[in-house]
Amino acid sequence: MPLPAPPPYGTPSYWDVRYAADPEASFDWYCTADELIPVLETILPAKDDFRRDEFEVFVPGCGNSTLPARLHAAGMRNVSAVDQSPVVIAAMQERYASIPELDFSIVDCVDMREQLEGPCFDLIVDKALLDSLLCAEDGASKASAAVQEMYRLLNPGGVYVVVSFAEPERRQAFLLGEGLDWEVSIHELAVAGVSEHAKAAEEETAPAAGTRTYFAYLCRKPGVGLG
Ligand SMILES: C[S@@+](CC[C@H](N)C(=O)[O-])C[C@H]1O[C@@H](n2cnc3c(N)ncnc32)[C@H](O)[C@@H]1O
Repeated sequence: MPLPAPPPYGTPSYWDVRYAADPEASFDWYCTADELIPVLETILPAKDDFRRDEFEVFVPGCGNSTLPARLHAAGMRNVSAVDQSPVVIAAMQERYASIPELDFSIVDCVDMREQLEGPCFDLIVDKALLDSLLCAEDGASKASAAVQEMYRLLNPGGVYVVVSFAEPERRQAFLLGEGLDWEVSIHELAVAGVSEHAKAAEEETAPAAGTRTYFAYLCRKPGVGLG
């Protein structure tokens, strides 16, 4: 029996059409920022450290999620969010124009060398970006390239967090690639009383599995970092 075609999440035009259909929309894949931030707070070494002036946060593949704004509201001063979709970045720039510490720009996360000279971030939160890249035709090589880029951009001691619907057997290989000498730990994210948004996203991404457990993969780069 032929395998079902992957969803179109690896196709840039899919996202532009989706975001253009409702420029005012907000959609949080898998879990809301309020569900994720307490988990992040427990895994960061010193809770208050992320409120330091110089602490730099990166949200790749941000879409129209509330996560960048909620991270800022939680005390993270410098939040850079990027997406390859010019449609959603224009909408987010307009929506958050009053918060200059919240920066949105168009970037293809598979190769960010022209826009971003690393290392420059203390925390990278990838929620559903890696999963989307893996839906592309050459998904495995795109995902590997993006992970290498995240490693390049992390400051020593910095943490790359991947939030995914996929279990370790399907994600670990990408996080343990060549030259990635970070320490990887895996945390299950039980999303209690799944929000409507998370439920809708889950039905789109993993209808067969029917699971409501998500995974947070934490990759900590060696070196003296956040405390
Ligand atoms: C499933 S959505 C996740 C959105 C958001 N992170 C969330 O958790 O709600 C995936 C997002 O990744 C973006 N994306 C896909 N491929 C990308 C790439 N190569 N570079 C940057 N963004 C990309 C899409 O445009 C889309 O906004």
